[in-house]
Amino acid sequence: MSEIIKQQIKDLLKEHNAVLLAHNYMRDEVQEIADITGDSLALSIEASRTDADVIVFCGVHFMAESVAILSPDKKVLLPRPDAGCPMADMVSAEDLELLKARHPGVPVVTYVNSSAAVKAHSDICCTSANALKVVRSLEENELIFVPDRNLGRWIAQFVPEKKFIFWEGFCPTHERMTVAAVLQKKEEHPDALFICHPESALEVSALADHVCSTSGMYDYCRTSQAKKFIVGTEAGILYKLRMDSPDKEFILASPALFCPNMKLTSLEDVLISLQTLAPVISVPEDIRLKAKTALDRMLAVPRD
Ligand code: 13P
Ligand code: SF4
Repeated sequence: MSEIIKQQIKDLLKEHNAVLLAHNYMRDEVQEIADITGDSLALSIEASRTDADVIVFCGVHFMAESVAILSPDKKVLLPRPDAGCPMADMVSAEDLELLKARHPGVPVVTYVNSSAAVKAHSDICCTSANALKVVRSLEENELIFVPDRNLGRWIAQFVPEKKFIFWEGFCPTHERMTVAAVLQKKEEHPDALFICHPESALEVSALADHVCSTSGMYDYCRTSQAKKFIVGTEAGILYKLRMDSPDKEFILASPALFCPNMKLTSLEDVLISLQTLAPVISVPEDIRLKAKTALDRMLAVPRD
């Protein structure tokens, strides 16, 4: 049955000159049929470059919004518009304006896990892959960092010369990974390296051999001499890690590393979305233009 659905999806993608983008946390079968998989940064860049007319975005709402902000001439479909991100919902544009009023003139760095409205009130965006470079690119020595307290505090350690004003947002999925769970896995697998996402609690990141974005994990595991890894991020990452390095072993750091929103999108949802060309994600033009300024400024920061 699923083979028939996959073929129908492929045919419709062709018929509509559509491209299927999937985040690294999507269900295995969705990643399998995607034209491009990646982290938030890579998917935004791919979306801005593609010459497809339609982008089917398999991920969560803020990611599809970023694509709509960067590619207003394209139809952006989010097969499950109810796939949100609790962290993105932890700060509103009104909250941010109140914070800015208390710190006049201080630039705002906003993690892409945020609404378009919040981005529109920000100076520059960042992802987990470029947050340090973005912060270093600022001339100012003080900055507001929203919404992720863990990513913010992780980055802050490497730029002691800058003063951070944090927002207390967090990813419930990554925060469910406890120090005790990681220590237990380390004890069970003393020969494994521990890698984790910077959305993890700071005490957990402190235990890691490497802290990086989801795509950074692929690069690290592919090129590392190690044969065994304890993986501290959402379970969907295991699909491609295992495909990329079939000779290596990957162990999830905690069974709690499961993001319900990232698991909503099924092949059936993708098919229906392509059949109906809905639901379309769009952003009001005044918000889009302001949010685009913050995203463009991020994309202009040299990568390596
Ligand atoms: P990446 O930017 O690493 O893709 O992470 C996005 C995300 O939602 C992590 O929870
Ligand atoms: Fe949001 Fe966390 Fe899910 Fe990523 S894993 S989409 S940050 S809730």
